[in-house]
Amino acid sequence: MSVACIVVAAGRGERLGEQRPKAFVEVGGRPLVWHALRAASDATRVSHVVVVAPDGFAGDPALAGVAAVVPGGATRQHSVANGLAALPDDTEIVLVHDAARCLAPPALFDAVAGAVLSGHDAVVPGVPVVDTLKAVDGAGRVTATPDRTELRAIQTPQGFRRAVLERAHLAAVERGDTDAPDDGALVERLGLPVHVVAGDADAFKVTRPLDLLLAAAVLSRRSA
Ligand code: CTP
Ligand code: MG
Repeated sequence: MSVACIVVAAGRGERLGEQRPKAFVEVGGRPLVWHALRAASDATRVSHVVVVAPDGFAGDPALAGVAAVVPGGATRQHSVANGLAALPDDTEIVLVHDAARCLAPPALFDAVAGAVLSGHDAVVPGVPVVDTLKAVDGAGRVTATPDRTELRAIQTPQGFRRAVLERAHLAAVERGDTDAPDDGALVERLGLPVHVVAGDADAFKVTRPLDLLLAAAVLSRRSA
């Protein structure tokens, strides 16, 4: 069964606060998206990669050799939809990956794709939550402390039977949703089951400056 991976790299990276879009900020001498694309192509089960790039970056050397480069949208959800529209006809399984999770290992792509191949229509990687999380109202008052053992921090790549993800995105457009937190959430809204597999500590998202330091440390540990 043909597995394609959409790497979304079209965000601005406002929380990182660099001059250029986050996916093109460098760590270990290469842009984040370069690392993400390499991991996607190194995954044995992935046969086709589509990258969603910000305006003006389609010709960037970091994207050289990628099968398809498509323009980003105003939200992550729109960027994923643009990637979906560019999949080859024979794609049956699609992985969606954040370029910002640039150090997610190839084995994680394969594990997620494998779980879809084994029959789950929607698969998300998750790791245990380390902090105590609280729900807080507008007045700063705690309204709940959910049991941490029931919570997972969700990463990418997330994997889907293509028809299911396309249906989920179409339904979102019909409802008027424009900025879903992730693709798994859109499948949940269809009332379909979303299966969680073990995530990977290295699949953390580069969001703030501290995360770049961590990414650099992980890379130098790998090359030691
Ligand atoms: N993304 C995208 N198109 C958008 C917004 C986000 O392709 N319109 C991508 C980002 O490039 C990133 C992933 O979605 O790889 C996860 O988003 P996030 O970490 O929020 O990245 P940014 O939106 O770039 O960062 P920020 O929210 O801090 O601006
Ligand atoms: Mg964002």
